[in-house]
Amino acid sequence: MNKVLITGGAGFIGTHLTRVLILAGHSVRILDCMAPQIHGEIPAGLDWLSGPGIEFMRGSVTDEAVMRKALNGIDVVVHLAAETGTGQSMYEIARYNAVNVGGTALLLDVLANDPKRSVKRIVLASSRSIYGEGAYTCPVCSPDRRRYPKSRAMSQLAAHQWEYACDQCAATLQPMATHESDPAKPASIYAATKYAQEDLVRVAGQALGIDYALLRLQNVYGEGQSLNNPYTGILSIFSTRIRRGQHLPIFEDGHETRDFVHVEDVARSFLAAVEHSGVVSQAINVGMGVKTTVEGIAEHLADAFGVQRHLVTTNEYRLGDIRHNFADINRLQTVLGYRPKITLAEGMQRFAEWVNTQALPEDKLKRANDELKARGLMG
Ligand SMILES: NC(=O)c1ccc[n+]([C@@H]2O[C@H](COP(=O)([O-])OP(=O)(O)OC[C@H]3O[C@@H](n4cnc5c(N)ncnc54)[C@H](O)[C@@H]3O)[C@@H](O)[C@H]2O)c1
Repeated sequence: MNKVLITGGAGFIGTHLTRVLILAGHSVRILDCMAPQIHGEIPAGLDWLSGPGIEFMRGSVTDEAVMRKALNGIDVVVHLAAETGTGQSMYEIARYNAVNVGGTALLLDVLANDPKRSVKRIVLASSRSIYGEGAYTCPVCSPDRRRYPKSRAMSQLAAHQWEYACDQCAATLQPMATHESDPAKPASIYAATKYAQEDLVRVAGQALGIDYALLRLQNVYGEGQSLNNPYTGILSIFSTRIRRGQHLPIFEDGHETRDFVHVEDVARSFLAAVEHSGVVSQAINVGMGVKTTVEGIAEHLADAFGVQRHLVTTNEYRLGDIRHNFADINRLQTVLGYRPKITLAEGMQRFAEWVNTQALPEDKLKRANDELKARGLMG
């Protein structure tokens, strides 16, 4: 049995992880500031935070006194607290840096200066976004060579050149499953802060003799995800529009792909990292290892809600969005012994059923998009 601190534990992933940890016999302390962008101005539905085995501390990971108290007597830290909006990160750079990088640095600083520290492992929620575009290959002239194209420039997106072309034979490059050994090439400030978190944990962990696991999460979805935050979560945005009888606006040509993984599988991957009996000390992809087009995900969701598919391809685009991504998840299985189980069809059904029990949120998509357009980050 471990005493686990979950920073950001009242959020989407933290809620599921807390349940899974408690069921497995661990005790949990949650440190969360209840950020209004996620929880609203007056957070609701938080009775579970006073459940058996759970201790809740309201405070920020950027507050040293709070952090010191939160770490007292802890065996394993799961560090989830972060600002998570990719588009928003491009113009709230100092805030993203202060919370994501500053909060991680403070966590490590407090551990480094505590002669009685009890923490033996840090499990970090990192992100697939650190790979940027990830790996591609040219099926015509060099199928065995992995290539790492630069992020698409605004001019390329404005010309609707969505896919990457081979610089030697002009054939369309094919995306490959991203492996942990592929180079990191963050394409947004959010991604840069997640990569900085990894570096801080890795270097400090080695120096302090604290084991670490850097879990690179793909697109996580499921019951409990924020339906109010317009800066993240394509499925939240789409589900609100379905309930309002509106069409689903599909960016680019709809053939861009993502690797969607259900939050329960993510929570179980974290559990495996917390309980691992040996040394982890590496990055591990957490996804389904399956690529799904954005058009396909919109169709799955409409089907799960039992409504007609009403998709409109808008050709709109956002700077910093990647074209394709899916993960090589072998390491998750070989190192942590876990393989995600919840299929997209089952996960979407569970998500849609849960959404239907929730209050209908305001549709904030237009406001968020207008903000990005005004800043030249979307076209
Ligand atoms: N959800 C995804 O698809 C996904 C994908 C890749 C990585 N991640 C990472 O997983 C982690 C958790 O993501 P999530 O989807 O549960 O996000 P979330 O926004 O639902 O939860 C984050 C929690 O952190 C809290 N928080 C924010 N700033 C804080 C601060 N300064 N001090 C204390 N608490 C603070 C928020 O109140 C919230 O409860 C994040 O680090 C995120 O970068 C998520």
